[in-house]
Amino acid sequence: MVCDRISGPDLFGRLAPRGPWTDVVCLDVTDSTNRAAMEMAENGAKHGTVVIADAQTAGRGRMGRRWVSPAGKNLYVSLLLRPPVPTVDAPRLAFVAGVALADAVEAVGVPAALKWPNDLYCGGRKAAGILAEMASVPDGVRHVVIGVGLNVNMEEADFPPDLRDTATSLRIRAGRAFRRVDVLARLLDAFGTRYAEFIGGGFASLRDGWDRRDFLRGRRVLLRRQGGEGWGTADGLDTAGALRFLPDCGTAIESVHSGEILDFRR
Ligand code: BTN
Repeated sequence: MVCDRISGPDLFGRLAPRGPWTDVVCLDVTDSTNRAAMEMAENGAKHGTVVIADAQTAGRGRMGRRWVSPAGKNLYVSLLLRPPVPTVDAPRLAFVAGVALADAVEAVGVPAALKWPNDLYCGGRKAAGILAEMASVPDGVRHVVIGVGLNVNMEEADFPPDLRDTATSLRIRAGRAFRRVDVLARLLDAFGTRYAEFIGGGFASLRDGWDRRDFLRGRRVLLRRQGGEGWGTADGLDTAGALRFLPDCGTAIESVHSGEILDFRR
């Protein structure tokens, strides 16, 4: 295996000019790049700061779950943004990251699908997750941190037993190893492009990129949301990025702004 450490100068040398990236902080190990980036943001770090770690000891997932983060295998990256958008629009930056992640993964030759709200699937299994965290003030967004965990070179045996049936990596799908810096450069370039489009055009700019990769559309899904859980059919996203959901026990499609898919029919 080639040396696969990521350095700031190497990464910057691969990025397209005019992207939003201002600083790259490369850490050997941290508890969580999201936590580190939120702290840096509080201390005045710039819009466009990228925080990467080779390993995380307490990687954070959505809904309080852990994110398995062994050293040297995957990408653990947090993007610090100070976006000029109203607070209600800031959570949609996670969709920007999802579509950019799919762009990047497909650019290195692995077909990708997007599972609402924030997962990337390859071959029917989860390859990446996104965790957006935000600090706001009464008149708007102070900063947003978008954390991306992408399983790049994990092999089956690297996953804990409870994840082996549901998780995957680029390496498993492609049958070859990847240089992490190549994948990261593609991700940052794709994010830069999608971010500029989103700031100019809102969620509509992401529509095509999401719709053609929508993993859930037409599937029966078990949805958990505030107030309970139940089966129904997913029907794509509405114009705000909410999941259109037809409950088995209902007659009308509902827009679900926040929730979690607990299960789906394959
Ligand atoms: C999920 O699917 O539950 C979201 C996982 C997000 C994991 C990434 S790894 C980099 C960043 N730092 C964290 O602690 N979490 C995110």
